[in-house]
Amino acid sequence: MSDKHDWQRMEKIVSLCKRRGFIFQSSEIYGGLNGLWDYGPLGVELKRNLKNYWWRVMVHERDDVVGMDGAILMNRAVWRASGHEDTFSDPMVDCRTCKVRVRADQVIEKKGVQQCPNCGGKDLTEPRAFNLMFKTYVGATEDEPSVTYLRPETAQSIFVQFKNIFEVSRKKLPFGIAQIGKAFRNEINPRNFTFRSREFEQMELEYFCRAEEGMKLLDYWLAERLKFYENIGIPREKLHARQVPDKERAFYSKGTYDIEYDFPFGQQELEGVAYRTDYDLLQHQKASGKSLEYFDEETKRKFIPHVVEPSAGVDRTVLALICQAYAEDKALDEKGKMETRVVLRFHPRIAPVKCAVFPLLKNKESLVTKAKEIVDVLRPNMTVFYDESGAIGRRYRRQDEIGTPFGVTVDFETLGEKDRALRDTVTLRDRDSMKQERIAIQDLSAILRERIR
Ligand code: GAP
Repeated sequence: MSDKHDWQRMEKIVSLCKRRGFIFQSSEIYGGLNGLWDYGPLGVELKRNLKNYWWRVMVHERDDVVGMDGAILMNRAVWRASGHEDTFSDPMVDCRTCKVRVRADQVIEKKGVQQCPNCGGKDLTEPRAFNLMFKTYVGATEDEPSVTYLRPETAQSIFVQFKNIFEVSRKKLPFGIAQIGKAFRNEINPRNFTFRSREFEQMELEYFCRAEEGMKLLDYWLAERLKFYENIGIPREKLHARQVPDKERAFYSKGTYDIEYDFPFGQQELEGVAYRTDYDLLQHQKASGKSLEYFDEETKRKFIPHVVEPSAGVDRTVLALICQAYAEDKALDEKGKMETRVVLRFHPRIAPVKCAVFPLLKNKESLVTKAKEIVDVLRPNMTVFYDESGAIGRRYRRQDEIGTPFGVTVDFETLGEKDRALRDTVTLRDRDSMKQERIAIQDLSAILRERIR
C-alpha cells in the first residue's frame, strides 16, 4: 500500500482544472457549497468520453447486458427495504470544545484517551448515527407521508425494475442491467477535490446469475474492470485490487474487491466489485410482496437470482484520469530556449479535444480556408479545436495543457507552393513525442479515427 502524498502535485492539478475549464467550485460567486462541483467545457467532454466508453464496453459490445435510466427520486419503501433508511449512516462524534462534528473513526486516541482531531479537546459526545441520505418531500405538503430521499446509489432502481427489464429483454441468466446516473450523499467530510463529493455520478452494473456462479463471476468482473482502467490509460501498476476483509464487508456479501488507485493524496477506492448474493432482490420481494423470481426453463425451478455488482464512480475516475495524465517535461520555446511544458497525457480515447487544427499564419487567406475545410471534414467524427492566434509553438503548448493528442498544421507545403508533391498534405503532431509526420489530407480522418477509437 502506497502512502506517499504529493500535495504540491495535487495543488497544481486543482489549479489547472480551474484555469483551463475542467472543474469549478459549484456556486463559486456565492462562496461555493462544500462537496459540490461543476464541470466546465473540457471537464464535461472528458466525463462524457469516459461514460460513453464504459457504456460501449459494458452494454453495446455485450449480448448479456442491457441498459436503463431510472428516476433519482423513488418511493420511500425502496430505501426502507434496501436497508438505507436504517443503516446508511456514519457514526459521528461532536466535540463540545470546538463544536466540530467528525466521523468516529477519525477521533484520535492518545494513551487510551479520545481526542478531537480538530482542537485536541477531550470532551466528546458518544458516537451517533448520521444518515447520509438527503431527505426531501414529494408533493405540496412537507409532512411525514411525503418524505423520500435523493438516491444514494443507482443500484436500487435496477433491482426494483429487474422483473420488468428481464421480461422485455427475453434474456437468460447470467444477465446484467447497467445504469449511469447521479447519486447523492450528505458526506460529513467532503475532501480531496472531487474525490468525496455530495453529488456524484455512478456507473453501475448489476449482473444477475445463479448462486453457484457468484464467486467465479466476482473474479471475472474484477479482471474485466481492471482491463477497463488500463484501456483508458491508467497503468496496471497504479491500480490495486484490495480484497475487502470479512469484518469490513457488508454482511450479505460473500466477496468484495475494492479497485484502488494511487492518487497524489494516497491509495484510494475507484470502484467496488461485490458479490451481493440474493440479498437485494430478496429484500424487495419481501417488502413489495411481488415475486422477483426467475424461472429456469432447463431445470423448471424458480429462484431469486444472485448478483455481482461492479460499481464505479464517474467523478473519481475523471479525477484519476487527470492525476494520471498530468506531467511536466521540457520543450523548446519559439526562441529555441528550453522551457517547462505542462501536458495532460490523456489516452486519445478519452481526451476532451481530439485534434487541433492550425493555419500557420492567420493573415494568409488560403491557409485559413484550407484549415477550416479540414475542420469541417473532421468534425462529424471527433471534437476539433480551431486556433489561428499566436505563434504556432504557443498554440501547441495550449493544446498540450488540455491534453489534445493531435495537432494538424496547414502550411505553405499544403498549398503546394514549395513542392507540388506535398500539395494537400499537412503535418500531424503527436502531443507526447512532439514528433511530426506528413499526412495527405484525404487520409487524415481515417488515421485519426483509428487512433482515438
Ligand atoms: N451500489 C454500491 C455502491 O454504491 P459504494 O462503494 O458506496 O457502492 C460505489 O459506491 C462507487 O461510487 C465508489 O467506488 C466511488 O467510486 C463512488 N462514490 C461513492 N461515494 C462517493 C462520493 N461521496 N463522491 C464521489 N464518488 C463516490
